[in-house]
Amino acid sequence: MEVQGIRSAIALGLLLLALATPAVAQAPAPSPAPTPAPAPAPSFVNITQLLVYGGDYGTFVSLLIETKVDVIFQGMANNTDTGITIFAPTNEAFKTKLATTLLANLTASQKISLVEYHALNNYKSLQELQNSNQNQTATVASYNNGGGRYLLNITFGQLGIVQIISDWTVANMTSMVYSQAPVSIMAVNQVLLPEDIFGYPAPAPAPAPSSGAPVPTPSGSSPPSSASGPSGSGANGSFAAALFVPSLTSIFISLVSLAFMISLLG
Ligand SMILES: *[C@@H]1O[C@H](CO)[C@@H](O)[C@H](O)[C@H]1NC(C)=O
Ligand SMILES: *[C@@H]1O[C@H](CO)[C@@H](O)[C@H](O)[C@H]1NC(C)=O
Ligand SMILES: *[C@@H]1O[C@H](CO)[C@@H](O)[C@H](O)[C@H]1NC(C)=O
Ligand SMILES: *[C@@H]1O[C@H](CO)[C@@H](O)[C@H](O)[C@H]1NC(C)=O
Ligand SMILES: *[C@@H]1O[C@H](CO)[C@@H](O)[C@H](O)[C@H]1NC(C)=O
Ligand SMILES: *[C@@H]1O[C@H](CO)[C@@H](O)[C@H](O)[C@H]1NC(C)=O
Repeated sequence: MEVQGIRSAIALGLLLLALATPAVAQAPAPSPAPTPAPAPAPSFVNITQLLVYGGDYGTFVSLLIETKVDVIFQGMANNTDTGITIFAPTNEAFKTKLATTLLANLTASQKISLVEYHALNNYKSLQELQNSNQNQTATVASYNNGGGRYLLNITFGQLGIVQIISDWTVANMTSMVYSQAPVSIMAVNQVLLPEDIFGYPAPAPAPAPSSGAPVPTPSGSSPPSSASGPSGSGANGSFAAALFVPSLTSIFISLVSLAFMISLLG
C-alpha cells in the first residue's frame, strides 16, 4: 500500500513535470528589447505617428486607419488614468503564409476585432509584462457590445522574452517602440490571431498518424458575426486550447506518464 502510494506520487510528479515543460523550449533568447527613448512626457502622444516613425509597421497602420480603430486607440492614449498597451506586428509578420491565408477574406467587423485584439485596455510597462506568467488578459476587442472580451495570454518564461500567445501564434516581443505612461507600444513578430475570429487551428501534423490518441477537431473558421460572441468558447474549445499549448513532446510524455500511472492503479 505504501509502496503503491509512493509509486503513484512519482508518476504524478512525472506527469506534472511533463505538463510543465514549456511549449517552445529552445535556445536562450537575446535579452529583451532595449530602452525606450527617455524624452520628456509630451502632453499627448500621437499613436499613428509613433508607429509611422517606427518604420516597420506600415501594414498595421493601414489597418488601423482603414478600420478607424486609430481613433479608439488614440482616445485611450489620451486618457492618462488608464492608457493603452499596443502590440504592433511588424510588416514581416503580416507576410507569413498563415497570416496572409487567414487575413484574406475578413469582413469589415472582423478586421476591427482583429486590430483591437492587438491592444490591452491599460498601460503596461515592460517590467509589468515581464511579471506575466500565462496571464490571461482582456484586449480591446469585444463581443456582445462589450459584454465579453477577446483574451490574450501573456507569458514571460525561461526564454527571457515576453511572448504573446493567441490560439494560432506565439508572438515574440521583439522591441519596444514607445513606453511612457500612459502609452506602451511594443513590436511583435507575429500577427495575433484570435480563435474568436478564426476558430481553432487544426492540430499540428501528427508525427504518429494512427496512434489512436484523441485528436482535437478544429472548430473551423466559420466567420462568427462580431455581435454573436466568440465561436469557440465552449467545452470543446477549451479542450482544443489546452492541447494546443503544450508542445507535442510534452503531450507525448504526459500520455506515457498517464499510461504508467493507470497501469499502477490497475
Ligand atoms: C521566439 O523566440 C524563441 C526563443 O528565441 C524562438 O525559439 C522562437 O522561434 C521565436 N518565435 C518566433 C515566432 O519568432
Ligand atoms: C497623428 O499623426 C497622424 C500621422 O502623422 C496624422 O495624420 C494625424 O492627424 C495626427 N493626429 C493628431 C490628433 O494630431
Ligand atoms: C487626443 O488628444 C489630442 C490632443 O488634445 C486631440 O487633438 C485628439 O482629438 C484627441 N483624440 C481623441 C480620439 O480623443
Ligand atoms: C477567399 O475568397 C476567395 C474568393 O472568394 C476564395 O477563392 C478563397 O479561397 C478565400 N480564402 C479563404 C482563406 O477563405
Ligand atoms: C500576472 O499575474 C501575476 C499573478 O497573478 C501578477 O502578479 C502580475 O502582476 C500579472 N502581470 C500582468 C502583466 O498582469
Ligand atoms: C491561456 O491561459 C489560461 C489561463 O492561464 C489557460 O487556461 C489557457 O489554456 C491559455 N491559453 C493559451 C492559448 O495559451
